[in-house]
Amino acid sequence: MARKPIIAGNWKMNNNKAAAKELIDGIMYGISKLDKENMPEVIVAPTYTALWQVWDLIKNEPKISLAAQNVNPNPSGAYTGEISLEMLEDFNVKYVIIGHSERRQMFFESDEFINQKAIAILKKGLIPIICCGETLEQREQGVTDKHLENQITKAFKGITTSDAEKCVIAYEPIWAIGTGKSCDAIEANRTIGEIRKVIAKLYSQDTADKIRILYGGSVKPSTIVEQMAQSEIDGGLIGGASLKADSFVELIKGAM
Ligand code: 13P
Repeated sequence: MARKPIIAGNWKMNNNKAAAKELIDGIMYGISKLDKENMPEVIVAPTYTALWQVWDLIKNEPKISLAAQNVNPNPSGAYTGEISLEMLEDFNVKYVIIGHSERRQMFFESDEFINQKAIAILKKGLIPIICCGETLEQREQGVTDKHLENQITKAFKGITTSDAEKCVIAYEPIWAIGTGKSCDAIEANRTIGEIRKVIAKLYSQDTADKIRILYGGSVKPSTIVEQMAQSEIDGGLIGGASLKADSFVELIKGAM
């Protein structure tokens, strides 16, 4: 069966209550005019503080799912400032982004912690969007594929085949995030193909064929069509261009 494409908007630390409402209202209006049968799965990842409101506005729209931008893998306790999976369940969250390079680099999250999060998310019946990606230095040194193999192998440690098949991976080269300089579509396709080979090695070709792998890093309405035309790219994880309803709806159209 063909893999269902995904267009996911990572709002990062943007949008207060009013701005989140304006954005989701605009997206809902934009997709109301589209052929729902052919639409990709649309995911929005607001900040924690906007989750409830966004859920309330999308709850009757089955084409849009909600993601959290992070989670703490522990069930409860003395973790000041953290949010648990049980809390996310209250907000009808379906996906959780983990291992984003911004969290790895700015908040020092390790591969082991990301693996703990993946296991906890799957145990709760939610789906992790597991991010991976290389720095410019690693790309220039020619160690991109090795680095990604390492990140993916560690993220999937102890995850069963049936759980692995549910996961979504996002390949986000760090040098392409927020820079306006998207990775060349052919090269992104090749790299994602390498990630799929890692999954095939860890599990099986069948599992690798089922898992959805997104590209992220300066995806724009002007790049999405070429990106979606690549056989290995199953969709986009988008930051900047997901913050305006018009451009996000253009991205959804580009995946149709
Ligand atoms: P940009 O689309 O702004 O480059 O961000 C990509 C990203 O980090 C999505 O998670």
